[in-house]
Amino acid sequence: MSIKLKTSKAVKDKDDVIVLLGSGDSEETYVLSDIEQQYLQKQLKSKKDVIAVNQYQRWVFLVSPVTEESAEYALETYRKRGASLYQTLKQEGVKKIKISGGETAQILALTEGLALAAYQFSTYRKDLKENLSSNVKEVSLVHPEVSSRDVQEVNNIVAGTFLARNLVNEPVISLNAEKLSRAFKKAGKDSGFKVEVFDKAKIKSLKMGGLLGVNAGSPDPPTFNILEYKSDKAVNKQPYVIVGKGVTYDTGGLSLKPSTSMDTMKSDMGGSAAVIGTMVAVAKNKLPIHLIGLVPATDNRPGGNAIVPGDVITISDGTTVEVLNTDAEGRLILADALSFAKKYKPALVIDLATLTGAAAVAIGKEGMVMMGSDSDDYKNQLKQAGEATYERLVEFPLWKEYRDYLKSDIADLKNIGGRMAGAITAGMFLKHFTDYAWIHLDIAGVAFLDSLDSYRGKNGTGAGVRLLYHFFKKLAHSA
Ligand code: BES
Ligand code: ZN
Ligand code: ZN
Repeated sequence: MSIKLKTSKAVKDKDDVIVLLGSGDSEETYVLSDIEQQYLQKQLKSKKDVIAVNQYQRWVFLVSPVTEESAEYALETYRKRGASLYQTLKQEGVKKIKISGGETAQILALTEGLALAAYQFSTYRKDLKENLSSNVKEVSLVHPEVSSRDVQEVNNIVAGTFLARNLVNEPVISLNAEKLSRAFKKAGKDSGFKVEVFDKAKIKSLKMGGLLGVNAGSPDPPTFNILEYKSDKAVNKQPYVIVGKGVTYDTGGLSLKPSTSMDTMKSDMGGSAAVIGTMVAVAKNKLPIHLIGLVPATDNRPGGNAIVPGDVITISDGTTVEVLNTDAEGRLILADALSFAKKYKPALVIDLATLTGAAAVAIGKEGMVMMGSDSDDYKNQLKQAGEATYERLVEFPLWKEYRDYLKSDIADLKNIGGRMAGAITAGMFLKHFTDYAWIHLDIAGVAFLDSLDSYRGKNGTGAGVRLLYHFFKKLAHSA
Protein backbone atom coordinates (compact mmCIF):
# COMPACT_ATOMS: atom_id res chain seq x y z
CA MET A 1 0.00 0.00 0.00
CA SER A 2 2.68 2.50 0.75
CA ILE A 3 5.24 3.07 -1.95
CA LYS A 4 8.89 2.57 -1.17
CA LEU A 5 10.74 5.80 -1.90
CA LYS A 6 14.48 5.80 -2.51
CA THR A 7 17.27 7.43 -4.45
CA SER A 8 19.08 6.00 -7.42
CA LYS A 9 22.16 7.04 -9.42
CA ALA A 10 20.96 6.92 -12.99
CA VAL A 11 18.06 6.36 -15.32
CA LYS A 12 18.84 3.37 -17.51
CA ASP A 13 17.54 2.72 -21.03
CA LYS A 14 14.66 0.54 -20.06
CA ASP A 15 13.61 2.33 -16.88
CA ASP A 16 10.14 3.83 -16.83
CA VAL A 17 10.70 7.44 -15.95
CA ILE A 18 8.98 10.68 -15.01
CA VAL A 19 10.96 13.73 -16.10
CA LEU A 20 10.29 17.20 -14.73
CA LEU A 21 11.02 19.67 -17.49
CA GLY A 22 12.79 22.95 -16.76
CA SER A 23 11.47 26.20 -18.20
CA GLY A 24 14.12 26.59 -20.93
CA ASP A 25 15.46 24.11 -23.48
CA SER A 26 16.72 21.62 -21.00
CA GLU A 27 18.81 18.52 -21.15
CA GLU A 28 15.98 16.65 -19.42
CA THR A 29 14.56 15.70 -22.79
CA TYR A 30 17.62 13.53 -23.44
CA VAL A 31 15.36 10.53 -23.35
CA LEU A 32 13.51 11.48 -26.53
CA SER A 33 14.15 10.86 -30.22
CA ASP A 34 13.80 13.74 -32.70
CA ILE A 35 10.29 12.79 -33.62
CA GLU A 36 9.31 12.49 -29.99
CA GLN A 37 10.85 15.90 -29.38
CA GLN A 38 8.59 17.41 -31.99
CA TYR A 39 5.59 15.73 -30.44
CA LEU A 40 6.62 17.07 -27.05
CA GLN A 41 6.93 20.63 -28.32
CA LYS A 42 3.44 20.45 -29.82
CA GLN A 43 1.96 19.09 -26.61
CA LEU A 44 3.69 21.75 -24.56
CA LYS A 45 2.27 24.46 -26.81
CA SER A 46 -1.21 23.13 -26.25
CA LYS A 47 -0.56 23.39 -22.50
CA LYS A 48 -0.64 19.73 -21.57
CA ASP A 49 0.51 19.12 -18.00
CA VAL A 50 1.94 15.68 -18.45
CA ILE A 51 2.96 14.23 -21.79
CA ALA A 52 3.15 10.48 -21.91
CA VAL A 53 5.48 8.87 -24.45
CA ASN A 54 5.25 5.14 -24.92
CA GLN A 55 8.70 4.06 -26.11
CA TYR A 56 7.74 0.36 -26.29
CA GLN A 57 10.59 -0.56 -23.94
CA ARG A 58 9.37 1.89 -21.38
CA TRP A 59 7.18 4.84 -20.49
CA VAL A 60 8.46 8.37 -20.37
CA PHE A 61 6.20 10.86 -18.64
CA LEU A 62 7.24 14.45 -19.22
CA VAL A 63 5.96 16.97 -16.72
CA SER A 64 5.64 20.41 -18.21
CA PRO A 65 7.19 23.30 -16.28
CA VAL A 66 4.90 24.94 -13.76
CA THR A 67 4.80 28.70 -13.89
CA GLU A 68 2.47 29.90 -11.17
CA GLU A 69 2.40 33.26 -9.47
CA SER A 70 3.43 31.93 -6.09
CA ALA A 71 6.08 29.36 -5.27
CA GLU A 72 3.61 27.70 -2.89
CA TYR A 73 1.00 27.22 -5.56
CA ALA A 74 3.62 25.91 -7.99
CA LEU A 75 4.62 23.21 -5.49
CA GLU A 76 0.98 22.34 -4.93
CA THR A 77 0.62 21.90 -8.67
CA TYR A 78 3.54 19.45 -8.63
CA ARG A 79 1.90 17.51 -5.79
CA LYS A 80 -1.32 17.29 -7.77
CA ARG A 81 0.50 16.15 -10.88
CA GLY A 82 2.22 13.51 -8.79
CA ALA A 83 -1.21 12.30 -7.68
CA SER A 84 -2.56 12.08 -11.20
CA LEU A 85 0.62 10.37 -12.37
CA TYR A 86 0.02 7.77 -9.69
CA GLN A 87 -3.38 7.01 -11.23
CA THR A 88 -1.80 6.69 -14.68
CA LEU A 89 0.97 4.38 -13.43
CA LYS A 90 -1.59 2.20 -11.74
CA GLN A 91 -3.71 2.00 -14.87
CA GLU A 92 -0.72 1.10 -17.00
CA GLY A 93 0.54 -1.45 -14.50
CA VAL A 94 3.85 0.33 -13.88
CA LYS A 95 5.28 -0.99 -10.61
CA LYS A 96 8.62 0.78 -10.48
CA ILE A 97 9.39 4.24 -11.70
CA LYS A 98 12.28 6.69 -11.63
CA ILE A 99 11.85 10.44 -11.36
CA SER A 100 14.38 12.99 -12.50
CA GLY A 101 14.75 16.64 -13.45
CA GLY A 102 13.37 19.84 -11.96
CA GLU A 103 14.43 21.65 -8.83
CA THR A 104 14.79 19.89 -5.50
CA ALA A 105 11.58 21.27 -4.02
CA GLN A 106 9.67 20.45 -7.21
CA ILE A 107 10.76 16.84 -7.53
CA LEU A 108 10.12 16.28 -3.82
CA ALA A 109 6.64 17.82 -4.07
CA LEU A 110 5.75 15.65 -7.06
CA THR A 111 7.02 12.59 -5.21
CA GLU A 112 5.05 13.49 -2.11
CA GLY A 113 1.84 13.90 -4.12
CA LEU A 114 2.43 10.60 -5.88
CA ALA A 115 3.14 8.74 -2.64
CA LEU A 116 0.17 10.26 -0.80
CA ALA A 117 -2.16 9.32 -3.66
CA ALA A 118 -1.25 5.66 -3.22
CA TYR A 119 -3.23 5.38 0.00
CA GLN A 120 -5.93 2.74 0.28
CA PHE A 121 -7.99 1.61 3.25
CA SER A 122 -8.14 -2.05 2.37
CA THR A 123 -8.71 -3.63 5.80
CA TYR A 124 -12.29 -4.65 5.03
CA ARG A 125 -12.11 -4.93 1.24
CA LYS A 126 -11.35 -8.30 -0.27
CA ASP A 127 -11.10 -6.86 -3.79
CA LEU A 128 -8.50 -4.29 -2.78
CA LYS A 129 -6.52 -6.78 -0.75
CA GLU A 130 -6.42 -9.19 -3.67
CA ASN A 131 -5.21 -6.47 -6.01
CA LEU A 132 -2.47 -5.08 -3.80
CA SER A 133 0.18 -6.48 -6.11
CA SER A 134 -1.05 -4.32 -8.99
CA ASN A 135 -0.05 -1.12 -7.20
CA VAL A 136 3.05 1.01 -7.73
CA LYS A 137 5.74 -0.42 -5.47
CA GLU A 138 8.87 1.66 -5.77
CA VAL A 139 9.81 5.18 -6.74
CA SER A 140 13.48 6.14 -7.18
CA LEU A 141 14.62 9.72 -7.39
CA VAL A 142 17.55 10.43 -9.66
CA HIS A 143 18.68 13.94 -8.88
CA PRO A 144 22.08 15.46 -8.01
CA GLU A 145 20.67 17.55 -5.15
CA VAL A 146 18.27 15.07 -3.60
CA SER A 147 19.78 12.96 -0.83
CA SER A 148 18.46 9.70 0.55
CA ARG A 149 17.74 11.66 3.72
CA ASP A 150 15.41 13.99 1.81
CA VAL A 151 13.59 11.02 0.39
CA GLN A 152 13.40 9.29 3.77
CA GLU A 153 11.92 12.45 5.22
CA VAL A 154 9.09 12.32 2.67
CA ASN A 155 8.64 8.62 3.43
CA ASN A 156 8.20 9.37 7.12
CA ILE A 157 5.76 12.22 6.54
CA VAL A 158 3.72 9.90 4.33
CA ALA A 159 3.85 7.21 7.04
CA GLY A 160 2.52 9.66 9.63
CA THR A 161 -0.22 10.79 7.27
CA PHE A 162 -1.24 7.22 6.41
CA LEU A 163 -1.44 6.25 10.07
CA ALA A 164 -3.69 9.26 10.68
CA ARG A 165 -5.88 8.27 7.71
CA ASN A 166 -6.11 4.67 8.88
CA LEU A 167 -7.24 5.71 12.35
CA VAL A 168 -9.85 8.10 10.96
CA ASN A 169 -11.19 5.47 8.56
CA GLU A 170 -11.42 2.76 11.21
CA PRO A 171 -15.00 2.48 12.54
CA VAL A 172 -15.70 2.80 16.24
CA ILE A 173 -16.68 -0.87 16.53
CA SER A 174 -12.99 -1.65 16.10
CA LEU A 175 -11.52 1.61 17.43
CA ASN A 176 -12.91 2.73 20.76
CA ALA A 177 -10.86 4.82 23.19
CA GLU A 178 -8.89 1.89 24.60
CA LYS A 179 -8.05 0.56 21.17
CA LEU A 180 -7.02 4.02 20.06
CA SER A 181 -4.63 4.08 23.02
CA ARG A 182 -3.24 0.74 21.94
CA ALA A 183 -2.64 2.13 18.46
CA PHE A 184 -0.78 5.07 20.04
CA LYS A 185 1.41 2.69 22.05
CA LYS A 186 2.28 0.73 18.97
CA ALA A 187 3.12 3.89 17.03
CA GLY A 188 5.29 5.11 19.90
CA LYS A 189 7.20 1.86 19.97
CA ASP A 190 7.70 1.79 16.21
CA SER A 191 8.69 5.43 15.84
CA GLY A 192 10.51 6.23 19.06
CA PHE A 193 8.38 8.19 21.51
CA LYS A 194 6.84 7.49 24.91
CA VAL A 195 3.14 6.85 25.41
CA GLU A 196 1.42 6.93 28.77
CA VAL A 197 -2.25 6.03 29.02
CA PHE A 198 -4.48 7.08 31.93
CA ASP A 199 -7.40 4.75 32.53
CA LYS A 200 -10.81 5.70 33.89
CA ALA A 201 -9.74 5.41 37.53
CA LYS A 202 -6.81 7.76 36.97
CA ILE A 203 -9.04 10.14 34.99
CA LYS A 204 -11.47 10.16 37.93
CA SER A 205 -8.68 10.89 40.37
CA LEU A 206 -7.68 13.86 38.20
CA LYS A 207 -11.32 15.03 38.27
CA MET A 208 -11.51 15.39 34.51
CA GLY A 209 -15.22 16.13 34.55
CA GLY A 210 -15.39 17.06 30.88
CA LEU A 211 -14.00 13.76 29.67
CA LEU A 212 -16.01 11.78 32.24
CA GLY A 213 -19.18 13.71 31.43
CA VAL A 214 -18.96 13.03 27.71
CA ASN A 215 -18.13 9.41 28.43
CA ALA A 216 -21.04 8.90 30.84
CA GLY A 217 -23.41 7.54 28.18
CA SER A 218 -20.92 5.05 26.78
CA PRO A 219 -20.39 1.41 27.69
CA ASP A 220 -16.67 1.85 26.92
CA PRO A 221 -14.29 3.65 29.30
CA PRO A 222 -12.41 6.82 28.29
CA THR A 223 -8.64 7.18 28.11
CA PHE A 224 -6.32 10.13 28.45
CA ASN A 225 -3.14 9.78 26.44
CA ILE A 226 0.23 11.47 26.88
CA LEU A 227 2.72 11.13 24.06
CA GLU A 228 6.22 12.47 24.51
CA TYR A 229 9.09 12.86 22.12
CA LYS A 230 12.24 14.53 23.38
CA SER A 231 15.34 14.88 21.27
CA ASP A 232 18.69 15.17 23.08
CA LYS A 233 19.29 18.15 20.85
CA ALA A 234 15.95 19.82 21.54
CA VAL A 235 16.11 23.53 20.68
CA ASN A 236 13.17 24.39 22.96
CA LYS A 237 13.52 24.41 26.76
CA GLN A 238 9.76 24.48 27.32
CA PRO A 239 7.91 21.82 25.36
CA TYR A 240 5.59 22.36 22.46
CA VAL A 241 2.28 20.63 23.15
CA ILE A 242 -0.20 19.41 20.57
CA VAL A 243 -3.67 18.42 21.70
CA GLY A 244 -6.12 16.38 19.62
CA LYS A 245 -9.84 15.83 20.00
CA GLY A 246 -10.27 12.08 20.31
CA VAL A 247 -14.00 11.53 20.02
CA THR A 248 -14.01 8.03 18.55
CA TYR A 249 -17.65 8.47 17.56
CA ASP A 250 -20.00 11.40 17.94
CA THR A 251 -23.68 10.47 18.05
CA GLY A 252 -24.36 13.85 19.62
CA GLY A 253 -25.29 12.14 22.87
CA LEU A 254 -28.82 12.84 24.09
CA SER A 255 -28.82 15.90 21.82
CA LEU A 256 -28.77 13.23 19.17
CA LYS A 257 -27.58 14.11 15.68
CA PRO A 258 -29.91 13.53 12.74
CA SER A 259 -28.95 10.24 11.19
CA THR A 260 -27.23 11.47 8.02
CA SER A 261 -25.07 13.89 10.04
CA MET A 262 -23.90 10.89 12.00
CA ASP A 263 -22.71 8.85 9.03
CA THR A 264 -19.13 10.11 9.09
CA MET A 265 -18.76 10.70 12.82
CA LYS A 266 -16.15 7.98 13.23
CA SER A 267 -13.91 10.78 11.94
CA ASP A 268 -14.46 12.87 15.07
CA MET A 269 -11.08 11.77 16.36
CA GLY A 270 -9.40 13.43 13.36
CA GLY A 271 -7.61 15.87 15.68
CA SER A 272 -6.07 13.02 17.64
CA ALA A 273 -5.10 11.32 14.37
CA ALA A 274 -3.25 14.48 13.35
CA VAL A 275 -1.46 14.48 16.71
CA ILE A 276 -0.29 10.88 16.44
CA GLY A 277 0.64 11.29 12.77
CA THR A 278 2.71 14.35 13.61
CA MET A 279 4.45 12.57 16.49
CA VAL A 280 5.36 9.75 14.09
CA ALA A 281 6.72 12.09 11.42
CA VAL A 282 8.65 14.19 13.96
CA ALA A 283 10.10 11.19 15.81
CA LYS A 284 11.02 9.20 12.71
CA ASN A 285 12.78 12.23 11.27
CA LYS A 286 14.40 12.97 14.63
CA LEU A 287 13.58 16.66 14.66
CA PRO A 288 15.58 18.40 17.40
CA ILE A 289 12.59 19.41 19.53
CA HIS A 290 10.71 18.47 22.69
CA LEU A 291 7.12 17.71 21.73
CA ILE A 292 4.22 16.45 23.82
CA GLY A 293 0.92 15.15 22.46
CA LEU A 294 -2.23 15.03 24.58
CA VAL A 295 -5.35 13.13 23.57
CA PRO A 296 -8.54 12.86 25.61
CA ALA A 297 -10.46 9.96 24.07
CA THR A 298 -14.03 8.70 24.34
CA ASP A 299 -17.07 8.17 22.20
CA ASN A 300 -20.14 10.39 22.72
CA ARG A 301 -23.27 8.28 23.23
CA PRO A 302 -26.74 8.66 24.69
CA GLY A 303 -26.82 5.46 26.76
CA GLY A 304 -27.03 4.74 30.47
CA ASN A 305 -26.04 7.64 32.62
CA ALA A 306 -25.44 10.00 29.70
CA ILE A 307 -25.29 13.65 30.72
CA VAL A 308 -28.47 15.52 29.87
CA PRO A 309 -29.00 19.04 28.59
CA GLY A 310 -29.05 21.22 31.68
CA ASP A 311 -26.49 19.21 33.64
CA VAL A 312 -23.59 21.05 35.22
CA ILE A 313 -20.20 19.40 35.13
CA THR A 314 -16.87 20.47 36.60
CA ILE A 315 -13.71 20.56 34.49
CA SER A 316 -10.41 19.51 36.12
CA ASP A 317 -9.39 23.15 36.66
CA GLY A 318 -12.54 23.75 38.73
CA THR A 319 -14.56 25.56 36.05
CA THR A 320 -18.23 24.61 36.09
CA VAL A 321 -20.01 24.17 32.77
CA GLU A 322 -23.72 24.05 32.08
CA VAL A 323 -24.13 21.55 29.26
CA LEU A 324 -27.01 22.78 27.15
CA ASN A 325 -26.18 20.66 24.14
CA THR A 326 -24.47 17.31 24.56
CA ASP A 327 -23.38 17.48 20.92
CA ALA A 328 -20.95 20.27 21.81
CA GLU A 329 -18.80 17.61 23.46
CA GLY A 330 -15.41 18.23 21.86
CA ARG A 331 -14.84 21.42 23.84
CA LEU A 332 -15.66 19.58 27.08
CA ILE A 333 -12.96 16.95 26.70
CA LEU A 334 -10.51 19.51 25.30
CA ALA A 335 -11.12 21.70 28.36
CA ASP A 336 -9.62 18.97 30.53
CA ALA A 337 -6.70 18.45 28.15
CA LEU A 338 -5.92 22.17 27.82
CA SER A 339 -6.06 22.51 31.61
CA PHE A 340 -3.71 19.55 31.92
CA ALA A 341 -1.27 21.19 29.48
CA LYS A 342 -0.63 24.03 31.95
CA LYS A 343 1.62 21.86 34.06
CA TYR A 344 4.20 21.66 31.28
CA LYS A 345 4.67 25.45 31.18
CA PRO A 346 4.58 25.01 27.40
CA ALA A 347 6.24 27.33 24.90
CA LEU A 348 3.19 26.85 22.71
CA VAL A 349 0.06 24.70 22.64
CA ILE A 350 -1.73 23.87 19.41
CA ASP A 351 -4.99 21.98 19.54
CA LEU A 352 -6.61 20.30 16.55
CA ALA A 353 -10.27 19.33 16.58
CA THR A 354 -13.17 18.48 14.32
CA LEU A 355 -14.96 20.93 16.54
CA THR A 356 -17.78 22.67 14.71
CA GLY A 357 -19.91 22.25 11.63
CA ALA A 358 -19.75 26.05 11.52
CA ALA A 359 -16.04 25.99 10.63
CA ALA A 360 -16.74 23.59 7.77
CA VAL A 361 -19.65 25.70 6.57
CA ALA A 362 -17.52 28.85 6.64
CA ILE A 363 -14.58 27.73 4.49
CA GLY A 364 -15.41 24.23 3.34
CA LYS A 365 -12.71 21.68 2.67
CA GLU A 366 -10.18 24.23 1.48
CA GLY A 367 -8.64 25.03 4.81
CA MET A 368 -8.67 25.01 8.57
CA VAL A 369 -10.06 27.70 10.80
CA MET A 370 -7.43 29.10 13.15
CA MET A 371 -7.86 31.09 16.32
CA GLY A 372 -5.45 31.81 19.08
CA SER A 373 -4.14 33.88 21.88
CA ASP A 374 -0.46 33.63 21.15
CA SER A 375 1.66 36.58 20.09
CA ASP A 376 1.46 36.84 16.33
CA ASP A 377 4.80 35.23 15.77
CA TYR A 378 3.80 31.59 16.05
CA LYS A 379 0.53 32.27 14.27
CA ASN A 380 2.35 33.81 11.33
CA GLN A 381 4.80 30.95 11.16
CA LEU A 382 1.97 28.45 11.27
CA LYS A 383 0.18 30.35 8.50
CA GLN A 384 3.35 30.19 6.42
CA ALA A 385 3.61 26.46 7.04
CA GLY A 386 0.00 26.31 5.88
CA GLU A 387 0.87 27.92 2.56
CA ALA A 388 3.98 25.78 2.10
CA THR A 389 2.13 22.51 2.68
CA TYR A 390 -1.12 23.78 1.22
CA GLU A 391 -2.92 22.95 4.44
CA ARG A 392 -4.09 26.52 4.58
CA LEU A 393 -5.32 28.48 7.56
CA VAL A 394 -7.89 31.24 7.92
CA GLU A 395 -7.82 33.20 11.13
CA PHE A 396 -11.04 34.00 12.96
CA PRO A 397 -11.10 36.59 15.75
CA LEU A 398 -11.44 35.94 19.47
CA TRP A 399 -12.87 39.33 20.36
CA LYS A 400 -13.71 39.60 24.02
CA GLU A 401 -17.36 40.37 23.28
CA TYR A 402 -17.82 36.72 22.30
CA ARG A 403 -17.11 35.83 25.90
CA ASP A 404 -20.63 37.04 26.77
CA TYR A 405 -22.17 34.48 24.41
CA LEU A 406 -21.08 31.76 26.83
CA LYS A 407 -22.56 33.22 30.02
CA SER A 408 -24.67 30.79 32.01
CA ASP A 409 -27.22 31.59 34.70
CA ILE A 410 -26.06 28.80 36.96
CA ALA A 411 -22.46 27.94 36.05
CA ASP A 412 -19.18 29.63 35.08
CA LEU A 413 -19.78 28.87 31.41
CA LYS A 414 -22.32 27.20 29.18
CA ASN A 415 -21.10 24.94 26.41
CA ILE A 416 -22.90 26.58 23.49
CA GLY A 417 -22.98 30.16 22.33
CA GLY A 418 -26.10 30.36 20.21
CA ARG A 419 -26.61 30.29 16.49
CA MET A 420 -24.12 32.95 15.48
CA ALA A 421 -20.33 32.65 15.21
CA GLY A 422 -20.34 28.94 16.09
CA ALA A 423 -16.70 28.24 15.33
CA ILE A 424 -15.62 31.30 17.30
CA THR A 425 -17.69 30.64 20.41
CA ALA A 426 -16.22 27.13 20.47
CA GLY A 427 -12.74 28.69 20.29
CA MET A 428 -13.69 31.19 22.98
CA PHE A 429 -14.80 28.34 25.22
CA LEU A 430 -11.42 26.63 24.81
CA LYS A 431 -9.53 29.86 25.47
CA HIS A 432 -10.93 29.90 28.99
CA PHE A 433 -8.78 26.89 29.85
CA THR A 434 -5.47 28.26 28.56
CA ASP A 435 -2.89 30.48 30.23
CA TYR A 436 -0.11 30.04 27.66
CA ALA A 437 0.59 30.82 24.00
CA TRP A 438 -2.14 28.87 22.27
CA ILE A 439 -3.47 28.20 18.78
CA HIS A 440 -6.70 26.37 18.00
CA LEU A 441 -7.28 24.67 14.64
CA ASP A 442 -10.82 23.67 13.77
CA ILE A 443 -10.34 20.92 11.18
CA ALA A 444 -14.00 19.92 10.78
CA GLY A 445 -13.96 20.79 7.07
CA VAL A 446 -10.76 18.95 6.13
CA ALA A 447 -10.38 15.84 8.28
CA PHE A 448 -12.75 13.73 6.21
CA LEU A 449 -13.73 14.13 2.54
CA ASP A 450 -16.80 12.67 0.86
CA SER A 451 -15.24 12.73 -2.58
CA LEU A 452 -11.79 12.17 -4.02
CA ASP A 453 -9.51 15.19 -3.94
CA SER A 454 -6.16 14.54 -5.63
CA TYR A 455 -3.46 13.42 -3.16
CA ARG A 456 -5.71 14.08 -0.16
CA GLY A 457 -7.70 11.09 -1.31
CA LYS A 458 -11.20 10.28 -0.18
CA ASN A 459 -12.42 9.84 3.43
CA GLY A 460 -9.73 10.32 6.11
CA THR A 461 -7.13 12.83 4.89
CA GLY A 462 -4.60 12.95 7.71
CA ALA A 463 -5.00 16.73 7.65
CA GLY A 464 -2.65 18.53 10.00
CA VAL A 465 0.28 16.13 9.85
CA ARG A 466 2.14 17.79 7.00
CA LEU A 467 1.27 21.23 8.36
CA LEU A 468 2.58 20.59 11.86
CA TYR A 469 5.65 18.67 10.73
CA HIS A 470 6.68 21.52 8.48
CA PHE A 471 5.95 24.08 11.21
CA PHE A 472 8.08 22.29 13.81
CA LYS A 473 10.87 21.66 11.35
CA LYS A 474 11.06 25.37 10.56
CA LEU A 475 10.98 26.25 14.27
CA ALA A 476 13.79 23.80 14.98
CA HIS A 477 15.96 25.11 12.20
CA SER A 478 15.43 28.78 12.88
CA ALA A 479 16.27 28.43 16.58
N1 BES B 1 -18.07 16.73 15.78
C1 BES B 1 -18.98 17.80 15.66
C2 BES B 1 -18.54 18.83 14.62
C3 BES B 1 -18.47 18.36 13.18
C4 BES B 1 -19.55 18.53 12.34
C5 BES B 1 -17.32 17.80 12.68
C6 BES B 1 -19.47 18.13 11.03
C7 BES B 1 -17.23 17.39 11.37
C8 BES B 1 -18.30 17.56 10.54
C9 BES B 1 -19.14 18.54 16.98
O1 BES B 1 -19.01 17.76 18.12
C10 BES B 1 -20.51 19.10 17.00
O2 BES B 1 -21.43 18.34 16.96
N2 BES B 1 -20.62 20.42 17.05
C11 BES B 1 -21.86 21.08 17.06
C12 BES B 1 -21.79 22.21 18.06
C13 BES B 1 -23.10 22.84 18.36
C14 BES B 1 -24.00 21.88 19.08
C15 BES B 1 -22.85 24.09 19.20
C16 BES B 1 -22.15 21.60 15.66
O3 BES B 1 -21.21 22.00 14.98
O4 BES B 1 -23.29 21.57 15.25
ZN1 ZN C 1 -20.82 16.81 18.70
ZN1 ZN D 1 -17.78 16.09 17.92
